[in-house]
Amino acid sequence: MEVQLRIRRYNPELDVEPHWEEYAVEAEPSDRVLDLLHRVKWYSDGTLTFRRSCAHGVCGSDAMLINGRNRLACEYLVKDAGRRISVEPLRGVPVVKDLLVDMEDFWAKYRASMPYLVNDEIPEDGKERRQSQADRELYEDTSRCILCAACTTACPVFWTNPDYVGPAAIVNAHRFIFDSRDTAHEERLELMADADGVWRCRTVFNCVEACPRGINVTRAIFEVTREIKQAERA
Ligand code: SF4
Ligand code: F3S
Ligand code: FES
Repeated sequence: MEVQLRIRRYNPELDVEPHWEEYAVEAEPSDRVLDLLHRVKWYSDGTLTFRRSCAHGVCGSDAMLINGRNRLACEYLVKDAGRRISVEPLRGVPVVKDLLVDMEDFWAKYRASMPYLVNDEIPEDGKERRQSQADRELYEDTSRCILCAACTTACPVFWTNPDYVGPAAIVNAHRFIFDSRDTAHEERLELMADADGVWRCRTVFNCVEACPRGINVTRAIFEVTREIKQAERA
């Protein structure tokens, strides 16, 4: 079958504004949108620029706006996308070229969320820090984040206020706030209670719809806010 692929193109060295270009691409229903992008790049226009790495929904590098929704190009199949497919870069972040966006601010917020375990105490048995299955379960959902930025760049609060830390950073803060082995609990809560932290969320739920890992992002944000309130009461 033939698919009409519309791609939002922008070359900062040539273009004043982004514009659409259309390509007729041969495709199988089982192809991923990433396969079509490869076909354009390899056989029609080698200047087309986009990010991808694993091609199997693991690395999070090919999140883009496909048919109006944030998705991973390597996961979205032609049989679901239809015969007319539009592809645009993620919203709310600067476009470097075509589908390639500048992720520096996203990574800065991620790093600022302290995405690592803090614990300088020597374990009881001198070997390992044990954790019950129930305690592990508290952050099972948020531990599955692949840092694709689909949630943050789907959030209207982030579009209007780029200082908002964004759902992805909160998800990764949640991952350690609810880890019973961590000793930086208060510091993490203080970070998230910042003026541009969790309180900015307006419960729009776009982040939940956008997440390719099915993480309940809004619930994670709610759990962090509840934890902050409990700490303030204590
Ligand atoms: Fe991507 Fe989901 Fe992680 Fe957000 S929470 S960065 S959408 S995997
Ligand atoms: Fe944005 Fe998600 Fe909150 S879309 S407003 S972070 S629920
Ligand atoms: Fe790695 Fe799509 S290329 S998630």
